[in-house]
Amino acid sequence: MKVDLGMAQLNQLAFGYWQSQALFAAVTVGVFDALADGPLPAAEVGSRCGVPADPALRLLDACVAIRLLTRSPDGEYANTPHTQRLLTTASPESVVRWTRVMARWYEPWGDITQALRDGKPVEDRALRLGEDPVYLADFILGMHQYNVRSADLLAHAVDQQGARTLVDVGGGAGTYSIAFCRAWQDLRCEVVDLGAVVPLARETVEAAGLTDRIRVRTGDYYSDAFGAADVDVVLLSNVLHQESPQVCVDILRRARAALAEGGRVLVHGHFLDEARTSPAFTTLHNLSALVLWDGGRSYTVAEMTALMQEAGLGSIQELPAPEGSAKLLVGQASA
Ligand SMILES: C[S@@+](CC[C@H](N)C(=O)[O-])C[C@H]1O[C@@H](n2cnc3c(N)ncnc32)[C@H](O)[C@@H]1O
Repeated sequence: MKVDLGMAQLNQLAFGYWQSQALFAAVTVGVFDALADGPLPAAEVGSRCGVPADPALRLLDACVAIRLLTRSPDGEYANTPHTQRLLTTASPESVVRWTRVMARWYEPWGDITQALRDGKPVEDRALRLGEDPVYLADFILGMHQYNVRSADLLAHAVDQQGARTLVDVGGGAGTYSIAFCRAWQDLRCEVVDLGAVVPLARETVEAAGLTDRIRVRTGDYYSDAFGAADVDVVLLSNVLHQESPQVCVDILRRARAALAEGGRVLVHGHFLDEARTSPAFTTLHNLSALVLWDGGRSYTVAEMTALMQEAGLGSIQELPAPEGSAKLLVGQASA
């Protein structure tokens, strides 16, 4: 039979979420943790995960089919080296929290038609920014699990020789402050984030052994001054896609005013190409912003450059960032 490429593509897209949901269900019931110490038969995995034998068998077989698990000839299931490394809670490379957030976002994404019709999110950001503490911890520490993988590379992307102070606005768990401090020995950082996030960031900074160089404080980026013309670097990492162009300019203006002479604002995030149809990830990130962040959107580099210029920043440089479609824009206070 001739392969119908159109139908093959449609199948891949239409059934794609079955795979995502099998992954999310396996993480949520704890399949990979149940198998962390070695292979087990299905009934034992089911009993450790609180799932009856027959549905457990279906889930485990599907996980084998999508290469999240292996099954031995005697019927025991085991983590693959990748799932052992990435999807068990105790692994130093664990991205379990991040995966749980992606699982959680299935729900608002499921209402995307509503978000499209209304032109606004279907989930209130307050839920993941403090109202639901379990969701908040997964969101903040999950981003840390994800971004820590490339943060060191980003910290080396711009020469920070001579820079003494960096303010990490909406710095989350302090992922990038930690990486910048490790990369640049003269630097001291300040993480500014919402009150509910501060204890999580303090824990991460303490675990990194950097409490002497990283201060964590509560601050609302809608009104905070970030500094008083005494900051060498203001970092806005993965923050501005949460906000409208007007709010971005307002944040960028205060970031610019916080700069000491010769200081720089770094804007890190996912940007659309000028044609707006690539990278594919960012076109979907743009939809995710619609679903999740009131006023938020993905910007093109030209759009963000214009917003930075409107805020009084100049000599804007575009640099590649380590993670896939991400970029780093560097702006200086223009005279
Ligand atoms: C997508 S995360 C990025 C975290 C970190 N900068 C990174 O790149 O991994 C967005 C951050 O913005 C923070 N945030 C949201 N609204 C804020 C506000 N009004 N004031 C300060 N921080 C805020 C969130 O708590 C979260 O830490």
